[in-house]
Amino acid sequence: MTSAEEGRANNAPPAAGGASGAPARLERVTPTPIATPTALDGGLLFRALDQAGRDELLTRARRCRYAAGDTVFHLGDPGQSMMAVVSGAVRISLVTSKGRDVVLADIGPGEVFGEVALLDGRERSAGARALTDCELMVLDRRDVIPLLERRPDLSLRLLSLLCGRLRRSDERMADIAFSELPTRLAKTLLAQPGVLGGERLSLSQSELAGMVGSARENVNRHLRDWRRRGIVELGKGWVAVARPAELAMIAELT
Ligand code: CMP
Repeated sequence: MTSAEEGRANNAPPAAGGASGAPARLERVTPTPIATPTALDGGLLFRALDQAGRDELLTRARRCRYAAGDTVFHLGDPGQSMMAVVSGAVRISLVTSKGRDVVLADIGPGEVFGEVALLDGRERSAGARALTDCELMVLDRRDVIPLLERRPDLSLRLLSLLCGRLRRSDERMADIAFSELPTRLAKTLLAQPGVLGGERLSLSQSELAGMVGSARENVNRHLRDWRRRGIVELGKGWVAVARPAELAMIAELT
């Protein structure tokens, strides 16, 4: 895609049906091999492919950009594609019947999402929203499935990715059932990318509450206590960990 085309994709109005339908902001790239964006080379899926395999997938991919806050797709949308993150981050979340947002994962460069609906042909199991400005490669079911049928190694990679997500979900469920809130909260914070470098994590207290399965008020009480003890710093919509070693003790990791 030329930079002019990318610009158009970027400026197109938000898609009515998200990336799972036929959104206006997505454009099909010219069917000639394009270089794998460097970020994808390191991802679990693309790493498994030789150059021919990458070309085969990427010549058919659509490259698209979303601004921070844009919806990529909603829970329950029909899903015929999966996405690889080239740059930026996408937040996967569910809204509960009580209207609470439960954050399941943040997907960063090189990682893929949308593989569940792509594989089982059903609706999206969660919603996806651009956490920052981001660029995605969108891969359609009709292109990916034949490749998976021919390449068992690639199918195994995708299975391994799903297993990793299932393991993390199981761990989280067990934590919610058996660990105290401060332990869960500390563990969740420490699991965020960039946390050890003291980066500000774009997580509101409501989102954190959704991640640890508690009420925002309880999360706020612990965070304020930790701020008083110099363990975290807090701002509007963000939290940063100032003393990871102390937080690891609360998380019962040390
Ligand atoms: P899909 O169901 O197509 O659309 C929502 C996507 O969110 C899903 O595919 C997965 O890629 C991703 N997803 C769903 N649940 C989780 C989870 N627990 N952890 C990480 N990613 C998830």
